[in-house]
Amino acid sequence: MLAEVLSALRPRTGGRYADGTIGGGGHAAAMLQASGPNGWLFGCDRDEAAILAAQERLAGFAGRFEIRRGNFGDLSGWIAPGHCDGVLLDLGVSSHQLDEAGRGFSCRKDGPLDMRQDQRQELTAAHLVNTAGAEELARIFWEYGGERDSRRFARAIEQDRRSRPFATTQQLAELIERLAPRQGSRTHPATRVFQALRIVVNDEIGSLRRGLEAAVRILAPGGRLAVITFHSLEDRVVKVFGREQCRDYAVLGDVDLPEFRQPCRPAMEWVWRKAIQPGAEEVAANPRSRSAQLRVLQKI
Ligand SMILES: C[S@@+](CC[C@H](N)C(=O)[O-])C[C@H]1O[C@@H](n2cnc3c(N)ncnc32)[C@H](O)[C@@H]1O
Repeated sequence: MLAEVLSALRPRTGGRYADGTIGGGGHAAAMLQASGPNGWLFGCDRDEAAILAAQERLAGFAGRFEIRRGNFGDLSGWIAPGHCDGVLLDLGVSSHQLDEAGRGFSCRKDGPLDMRQDQRQELTAAHLVNTAGAEELARIFWEYGGERDSRRFARAIEQDRRSRPFATTQQLAELIERLAPRQGSRTHPATRVFQALRIVVNDEIGSLRRGLEAAVRILAPGGRLAVITFHSLEDRVVKVFGREQCRDYAVLGDVDLPEFRQPCRPAMEWVWRKAIQPGAEEVAANPRSRSAQLRVLQKI
């Protein structure tokens, strides 16, 4: 969604931008190009391989960017309040992470059951699968993967790991496939379980909430925040956050009832009322983009 991101963030000469998910540096390169000759970009990613790839990709823009390894939830610790004209969060996993069997993200490739985006962290998918109780696993598969067979899968995992702890992606993928044969579907039956584990291992929802708060802090008035999500859970977090930022009252406490409302100025406004989806051409060229949704907010 490169063209859509550029039209949302409107990079301009001398503008200052932050890319919280720099990945291979594709969006960052386009933003630096469009904000030349002196626009500046701060990039971050928690994956070391992404940092190296982005540094290489952006070599031609030397002196105009800074890249840091870390969680985008910490953006406001690195960038001063009101400093940026645009912030991009392009969520989820990169193609590099999915394609690299050794990272353990894909149920179609054999590798260690890892799934950590930041390989410095201790929690891996194998640890989660081997130590969480069946009830906890079922909750994870249902809540973060929408898996309807969550309880059955969780019980089978608990049973299986007694004789042999889970170590590889194939061990888990094969168990799920035995329990739920494909019956002609092209989607691997373990897809939702893998998604759920990945979300929990990387605390994706918690990081997203922190990242959205941080983005609002570092944006200057008129600055824009563009977020690309890949599943409905993420999209809901962005939608709810946007709704809260756009309303003209604050809520005292946790419940939004008229008697607990206090008038205040909205912090943001929606640039587009609805989420933007990739066009047919992009989906044909990159099938992984089919579930992408772009939402854009502007700081007031
Ligand atoms: C879809 S890719 C981004 C691709 C990038 N826009 C490009 O043009 O190449 C998502 C990237 O975000 C990173 N990521 C996901 N959540 C993160 C977080 N909370 N903090 C920092 N990086 C994160 C992943 O490691 C991955 O490299």
